[in-house]
Amino acid sequence: MSKKILITENIVGPGIDGLKEKYDVTQDKDLWQKSDELLNIAGDYDAIIVRNQTKVTEDLLKAASRCVVVGRAGVGIDNIDVKAASDQGIVVAFTPEENSISVAEQVLGMMLCLAKKFPGANASVKSGSWDRMAFLGVELFGKTLGVIGLGKIGARAALRARAFGMRIIGYDPYLTKNNFTVTETGAELCDLDTLLRESDFITIHLPLTDETRQMINEETLAKMKPTAYIINTSRGPIVKEEALYEALSKGTIAGAALDVREEEPPKESPLNTLDNILLTPHVAAFTQEAQDKVVESLADDVDRVLSGGPALRVANFPSPRK
Ligand code: MLT
Repeated sequence: MSKKILITENIVGPGIDGLKEKYDVTQDKDLWQKSDELLNIAGDYDAIIVRNQTKVTEDLLKAASRCVVVGRAGVGIDNIDVKAASDQGIVVAFTPEENSISVAEQVLGMMLCLAKKFPGANASVKSGSWDRMAFLGVELFGKTLGVIGLGKIGARAALRARAFGMRIIGYDPYLTKNNFTVTETGAELCDLDTLLRESDFITIHLPLTDETRQMINEETLAKMKPTAYIINTSRGPIVKEEALYEALSKGTIAGAALDVREEEPPKESPLNTLDNILLTPHVAAFTQEAQDKVVESLADDVDRVLSGGPALRVANFPSPRK
């Protein structure tokens, strides 16, 4: 009898098609919203594949008594109780760098939109106006980009910003000056206060943890230059939106771009009323190329585990301990 895989979100591509040829795959793209049903059926599957919306809780993992691998199509694993999975002996496979180029490109796109005011200019021309003076921008050249978290995405964003002639500074308590992402980007490592004070643009590339939740708040925003911009493409709750709204509406910082939100999808928000913020619906990783790579790598790792081999991209261990 072939092994059974449950997919709880909209995850498609050749990698999934390959799994369907070899395994008994059940896919319900809305199952992440039906937590009781998910809990009831989880025990029937050898593998569970999710994106970022399914809450893979301790209860779900306990109910998934046959499961040997949970696959996360993406890099953020804050929706998975990795400790509980490890306690159950379940492998957590994910895709730590498959979408990092796309996210880094989005950071550059957002930085250019903020610097050159493209979204406002576009809306203005389409409404019949031709007001050149309203859209005086700034150059990226010679400006300082502060990267909070110089990992796979932060470093790729930094490398691209270097091509624009930007100075790179980085805050990452887990790195030293000899780490690859520091030497290759030419970033100057500094503490968070220095980064906040010196940056013209700040980009956040952190996982969501107890330590990073609301790291950008009234206090940290107050340390930024009034001409500075902040970009978040990592996890929404790292930025306290209420404090960001205050800073943007009072002009204590120049602007912001958010691809991720405290709550997704967000409720009606005062941020929607501001001209100096650019908002996108968690799409930084949503390019065809990134999604193909994510799905291919994840399907490969789920197949490896179900075939008795070790997974290559894991958040805990490569083979099940059950
Ligand atoms: C990621 O964590 O990989 C991206 O934010 C996209 C996603 O959550 O699926």
